[in-house]
Amino acid sequence: MSQVFVGLMSGTSLDGADAALVDFSSGVPRTLAFATVPFPAELRDRILALSEPASDSLDLAATVSMELADLYARAVEGVIAGGGVARESITAIGCHGQTVRHRPDRGFTVQINDPARLAELTGLDVVADFRRRDMAAGGQGAPLVPAFHEAVFRHPTCSRTVVNIGGISNVTWLPASGPTLGFDCGPGNVLLDGWARKHIGALFDDDGRWAAGGRTDEKLLARLLDEPFFQLPPPKSTGRELFRLAWLQERLPADYRTVDVQSTLTDFTARGIMGAIDRFCPDTREIYLSGGGARNGSLVGRIRALAGERAVETTDVLGVPTAHVESMAFAWLAMKCVRREPVDLTAVTGAREPRVLGALYAA
Ligand SMILES: Nc1ncnc2c1ncn2[C@@H]1O[C@H](COP(=O)(O)OP(=O)(O)O)[C@@H](O)[C@H]1O
Ligand SMILES: [Mg+2]
Repeated sequence: MSQVFVGLMSGTSLDGADAALVDFSSGVPRTLAFATVPFPAELRDRILALSEPASDSLDLAATVSMELADLYARAVEGVIAGGGVARESITAIGCHGQTVRHRPDRGFTVQINDPARLAELTGLDVVADFRRRDMAAGGQGAPLVPAFHEAVFRHPTCSRTVVNIGGISNVTWLPASGPTLGFDCGPGNVLLDGWARKHIGALFDDDGRWAAGGRTDEKLLARLLDEPFFQLPPPKSTGRELFRLAWLQERLPADYRTVDVQSTLTDFTARGIMGAIDRFCPDTREIYLSGGGARNGSLVGRIRALAGERAVETTDVLGVPTAHVESMAFAWLAMKCVRREPVDLTAVTGAREPRVLGALYAA
């Protein structure tokens, strides 16, 4: 069996679909190609509409699923063209789908997707629906990437923590000895993006430059950090259902400058991440950042300031580009499924036992 897989990931930031064509034949997984297909604005809006807990839009879900499959197929075609790999040598596509509802408290999580259509379009086997089996086994259904982080980033003598800053941030604690711990620790880019979109009409605050011109409101920061989610012990996961602009709006003072709120949100995001590491990831000596948030200089600067003695780097220094990590993880999860290998997330999601995650849609 070939060792080349495609991982597809499109997360809560709604920026687009990332695809990694990954060769697992040597010790360190290597991306042969990486591509992002951005979401068209109007598709992004409809995904946001579906993410609204009030919407009851099954027709919309079905049509968006088909459109996503068409977009995913383009991402796959992009990495096949760029990777110099024959279609026949790709074993499967691991396709996460788009999360529109994540309700671990109620036992369900919804990733819309049309894996059958993707298989039809690409002529490749597709593995999809990774989270529901974990939930069915008593887990939170998220995060799943810590298992991949463990396989790739664990060090035998140095305790490391990997932080993926997507829409939501999740941390993976890789202690020098003992089981891996991983959990969602709070917002990543969701609030930063939402506020920037509303007030400066940008998709995101590029490099955190807007935030850098503001002054943090310590009172507001304390109010945001008061959110009980931060005190919950792992396993825990969260999503747009909690950390949304309406949640922020309820906590804003009567008077504020929008730029100061962006600065406060940047500190809040950094504090959410570092608070989780301080509380739940003891002995961490090295912190590795990945995801789009690693490209927000203001955010990274504030994480560094809070990290003190602990080294803060991006996963690039470990040979895995920050933007590739998540889609590579889904190539890896696809590989685990095709091999029928259970993934041990018992200490991460709280699943009862290791499980084979995902469903195979044959080409
Ligand atoms: N240059 C940048 N400056 C600030 N933020 C950035 C930059 N590039 C990407 N981002 C942030 O990263 C997000 C995308 O991150 P990604 O890891 O793909 O998240 P997800 O997994 O949720 O899709 C964007 O929405 C944006 O907030
Ligand atoms: Mg993304």
